[in-house]
Amino acid sequence: MNLDDSVEEPEKKECSPVCVGKEDNIKKSGRMTAVVHDREVVIFYHKGEYHAMDIRCYHSGGPLHLGEIEDFDGRPCIVCPWHKYKITLATGEGLYQSINPKDPSAKPKWSSKGIKQRIHTVTVDDGNVYVTLSNEPYKCDSDFYATGDFKVIKSPF
Ligand code: FES
Repeated sequence: MNLDDSVEEPEKKECSPVCVGKEDNIKKSGRMTAVVHDREVVIFYHKGEYHAMDIRCYHSGGPLHLGEIEDFDGRPCIVCPWHKYKITLATGEGLYQSINPKDPSAKPKWSSKGIKQRIHTVTVDDGNVYVTLSNEPYKCDSDFYATGDFKVIKSPF
């Protein structure tokens, strides 16, 4: 019988918050990258709110930490630098413009493809910023690029 309770169960560890930096530094730079339980994430500070998501774009693995933030339909989005896909910071939805083919003169309207990029939780405590990985059971397209050969920052192990 192992009485060593210092060893956490793997699932529990994956859900524990990880300190990624100081609040002052992230506020100054507006964004930062981090590795949280071997998953690479980008953390944005935008208009007084923190947002964390998988660092690789769900479309083809583009580096979201190098994208620009713009509002579309009143929703702040990161625009992927590779093919300009728009991803909402708050929910990870992919946005696109659609038109009614039966009414080609109509103005395109913004629509959602649903949640494509996995969003993680950011908390702040005593000037430190923490990220807790999402354990939502749904499959996100960005999960594919969050593992294996697509990692930006290689683990030393
Ligand atoms: Fe991001 Fe294509 S990789 S839009």
